[in-house]
Amino acid sequence: MPHQESAPSGIDSTRMSHARAYDYVLGGKDNFAVDREAARQVIALAPDLPALGKAQRRFLLRVTQMCAEEGIRQFLDIGAGIPTAPNVHQSAREIVPDARVVYVDNDPIVFVHNQALLSPDDNVVSIQADVRRPDELLAAPEVQQLIDFDQPVLLLFIGLFHLVTDAEDPAAIVARFRERMAPGSYICISQFCADGSDPAARAKLEEISVNSPAPMTFRRREEIERFFDGFELLPPGVVDVQQWWPDENAPPTMLKVAAGVGRKR
Ligand SMILES: C[S@@+](CC[C@H](N)C(=O)[O-])C[C@H]1O[C@@H](n2cnc3c(N)ncnc32)[C@H](O)[C@@H]1O
Repeated sequence: MPHQESAPSGIDSTRMSHARAYDYVLGGKDNFAVDREAARQVIALAPDLPALGKAQRRFLLRVTQMCAEEGIRQFLDIGAGIPTAPNVHQSAREIVPDARVVYVDNDPIVFVHNQALLSPDDNVVSIQADVRRPDELLAAPEVQQLIDFDQPVLLLFIGLFHLVTDAEDPAAIVARFRERMAPGSYICISQFCADGSDPAARAKLEEISVNSPAPMTFRRREEIERFFDGFELLPPGVVDVQQWWPDENAPPTMLKVAAGVGRKR
């Protein structure tokens, strides 16, 4: 979709959107002035935020390929964000050509862009749904059609749970997904981490998110580890996203995102 400041119908261009602000941080063009202003305020305090976003994208794509190499053929990407290339389906299909992928996000802008970008393909779909209502999400016809929970699946929750508050109980939400998954399935989670994050940049992110659709919740590493309860946590465990791959060698950033991968035995 070309860069434009007029919003598609149903899109509120006057209120910051996390999907659009993240698109700006990643160098995308699908954002509005309100999103850029919010992102710039954080980048003023943490200039390496774009490097952190890119490290998180690399992590997501490498985990997708690692799981595809382990035989995973179906992928559910929740909090998928505005599409950037390559995305999950392109990465997975380098290894599993008929991989099935469902992208889920509750921001209508993601659905709009995916509809415009995804070529007609019965096995890659985008839906608008909310992770805070897991039963509804799992019952969506597109999820039912493409994801067979009796077979191993990779569930991605990348950069998502810091947008779910403690009162909304993300641990209970993940548990609802975990119990539906077949042995051999993987769950991959990353979110902003309190441990080691620069306090001023963190405070700014929390402040700007107050007027957004979802306030920001940083969590300690132990809290994030609990999202994997009952799953085998793959080495190196829940660590800064740049440390997950030994060859990554990406410099540490002022804000921290902790990331992990769990496998159902
Ligand atoms: C930081 S972006 C991450 C995008 C993508 N996962 C990535 O790593 O590139 C977080 C995404 O989660 C979405 N999101 C926030 N709250 C959500 C919810 N309750 N249900 C589904 N998606 C949500 C936002 O709209 C946004 O697109």
